[in-house]
Amino acid sequence: MRQLLLCPPDHYGIEYEINPWMSRARGAEIPVAQAQWKGLFNKLSSLDCKIELIPPRPKLPDMVFTANAGLTIGRRFIPSNFRHEERAGEAPHFARWMEERGYEVVWLPKNLYFEGEGDALFGGDVLFCGYKFRSDINSHRAVADILGCLVISVELVDPRFYHIDTCFCPLPDGGAFWFPDAFDEYGQRAIRDHLRDLIDVVEEEAVHFSCNAVVLGREIVLPKGAPKLVTTLKDRGYTCHPLPMSEFLKAGGACKCLTMFMPQREKL
Ligand code: ARG
Repeated sequence: MRQLLLCPPDHYGIEYEINPWMSRARGAEIPVAQAQWKGLFNKLSSLDCKIELIPPRPKLPDMVFTANAGLTIGRRFIPSNFRHEERAGEAPHFARWMEERGYEVVWLPKNLYFEGEGDALFGGDVLFCGYKFRSDINSHRAVADILGCLVISVELVDPRFYHIDTCFCPLPDGGAFWFPDAFDEYGQRAIRDHLRDLIDVVEEEAVHFSCNAVVLGREIVLPKGAPKLVTTLKDRGYTCHPLPMSEFLKAGGACKCLTMFMPQREKL
């Protein structure tokens, strides 16, 4: 059974602007956000997962995006070094919480920005890591040294897709779905060289954060607004569960960013 970490949206809101989706003037509808988060929680609970909840903290509105808190492999947790000071206060809460549950917390050097599972996803045995807008490329080498696995660093080129999990979603059969234009040519080539049967997501669907999906075996929980992708995934034998996520899109996040795998990988 997969174990997931979520954070209730008690203190969620658009209180600063650190990516192109966020607008304080527009804000988010908080009661709607709470209902959407509950919908995600209920859906994941129904799919044979164990959900842990970390208590939300005031003045840390993005703490709901637990995927960005760090990377968990086996019993080791590598906390994030957030690029933006608005989010830096989240890190000690997550580190303490993981430590209290017996995880070994392994910090990266403080000068290397790294935003956890938001920028680090396994496709097969390879850890694909995104860099530029948030994580530093040098953090990937440090992660590779800690984990001893093959890390492939790919540059993100479109500020709307500032974390790798906004434009790339590996599948258990060795493939992935992705929005290729979010990567430079070299990154596209690196991904194509390592993964077969890639599903290209069209821009109209990528902007609904359709790549920001939680994959649980053959079940895929994703934001609604991607009918073409859903049809393709169905043809490949997956069951899709599209959910309304509008109020989290306004912060630049959706289903996957709201979920951290504990662990993402049991063993390497
Ligand atoms: N407002 C948050 C930020 O800009 C959203 C994070 C969403 N997470 C993600 N993995 N894309 O950091």
